[in-house]
Amino acid sequence: MDVVICPSSPLLGKRIAELLEAKIAAVQYKKFPDGELYVRVESEEDSHIVVGSLCSNDDIIVLNLLFDAIKGEITALIPYMGYARQDREFLKGEAVSIRAIAKMIEERAEKIVTVNIHSNKAKENFKKLIDVDAMPKIGEHFRGRDIVMISPDKGSAERVKIAANVANCEWDWLEKKRIDAHTVEIAPKNLNVEGRNVLIVDDIISTGGTVVEATKKLYELGAKRVEAACVHAVLADFASIKLFSNGIADITATDTIERIFSKISVAGILAETL
Ligand code: R5P
Repeated sequence: MDVVICPSSPLLGKRIAELLEAKIAAVQYKKFPDGELYVRVESEEDSHIVVGSLCSNDDIIVLNLLFDAIKGEITALIPYMGYARQDREFLKGEAVSIRAIAKMIEERAEKIVTVNIHSNKAKENFKKLIDVDAMPKIGEHFRGRDIVMISPDKGSAERVKIAANVANCEWDWLEKKRIDAHTVEIAPKNLNVEGRNVLIVDDIISTGGTVVEATKKLYELGAKRVEAACVHAVLADFASIKLFSNGIADITATDTIERIFSKISVAGILAETL
């Protein structure tokens, strides 16, 4: 069995190969002047684990090309499953993006493993998917710290509860109202964060809008220090700068998307799952 590492997950791919004591296949990646991609896999093995997050459209093309190039059995390890937020037809005529992605992966992979897929609705599009929860790893990372964990919305509250239970700290959640794609209003629930160190925990930080609004609210409520943690640090549109300029003291993420903030590795839980 060889591990095939996609350009989106070089370090996590290497960590997983080490834990599984598997060889890393030689792969050539090229981009032509017109933007088209090329892959060549030099491996004689009949079983492969492909490790690659879907953070961009190119990542999806690369995965599809690898599916074609690799001979034999494939386990697709997709740490960050992009396109999962379009998990339903919100407006008539819309593509259910994650359904299209699921179809592509399920057609070729025998087994599919991901980390904290955005929703159960997204998960329903897969038949062979194992969804691994990284929240206990976030909890472990913060164990012993004097913090209260806050979910920015009710939807993430159950996830935060898992992290808080492992960290052995208090937790709560904020009520979130999405006005449009760019505006989010947050109202407090039953919080007393005055003088407290607060850690906002979410599955994804994308534009940072959700965390920024939560941060403002928490400082208004008297929080002493606010930092943020997430599984998937998408950090689109220079989100990290937006977070820091709005008073976020630190950002902690896993390596499902490899960022400078990836202080927690999911390699162990993924290797165990495999
Ligand atoms: C929403 O349902 C998710 O849990 C995140 O809160 C959301 O994806 C974060 O997006 P953004 O950083 O763009 O506000």
